[in-house]
Amino acid sequence: MSAVDVTRSSTVALRPMRWWDIEPVMEIEHDLFGDESWTVAMFWSELSEHDTRHYLVVEDRAEIIGYAGLCAYPEESFVQTIAVRRNRQGEGLGARLLTALIEEARRRSEPMVGLEVRADNPIAKAMYLRFGFEQVGIRKGYYQPSNTDAVLMVLNLNGVNPADWAGNG
Ligand SMILES: CC(C)(COP(=O)(O)OP(=O)(O)OC[C@H]1O[C@@H](n2cnc3c(N)ncnc32)[C@H](O)[C@@H]1OP(=O)(O)O)[C@@H](O)C(=O)NCCC(=O)NCCS
Repeated sequence: MSAVDVTRSSTVALRPMRWWDIEPVMEIEHDLFGDESWTVAMFWSELSEHDTRHYLVVEDRAEIIGYAGLCAYPEESFVQTIAVRRNRQGEGLGARLLTALIEEARRRSEPMVGLEVRADNPIAKAMYLRFGFEQVGIRKGYYQPSNTDAVLMVLNLNGVNPADWAGNG
């Protein structure tokens, strides 16, 4: 459990991401990912894929403080992105977003969720391990221009009890 858990606060809420959220999302994206940020066009493209995408924002009093997206096919879902504004990290918001994505994956797909995470991102890796993801491979130099490796992780939801996930622990 996070040291500070404000995620149940009445001012913090998750809701679907809409096109008008892209601008504040991009501010967080640039701050966190710099040169390797997604572009505005990538977010537009993701939001236009209604059948296979599920994007959420987390808001506190009308301010966007985090976001996450899932790509769901019948056989498998993928965590496309997840991010929490720097000054709001460590409050349980990432866990809450990831829980929501996994619940959606369970509704839409066979019980497999995949993702890629930077090899040099121990905090995100710790979060995924905490949720039961397992490392299944490495993609060399996947992130450019930094040439950082991606770690491929998979969660098999068979037998996973949602009550064990972060945010409920
Ligand atoms: C990864 C990220 C989304 C996590 O969001 P967050 O709101 O800070 O995370 P939470 O407070 O919900 O914590 C969830 C889990 O993450 C891990 N974690 C969070 N902060 C951590 C820290 N400082 N050190 C180690 N693990 C940490 C823990 O496993 C934690 O579970 P616990 O609280 O039960 O120990 C956030 O750090 C972030 O936006 N990072 C930059 C963008 C990024 O790397 N995105 C992932 C791309 S794959």
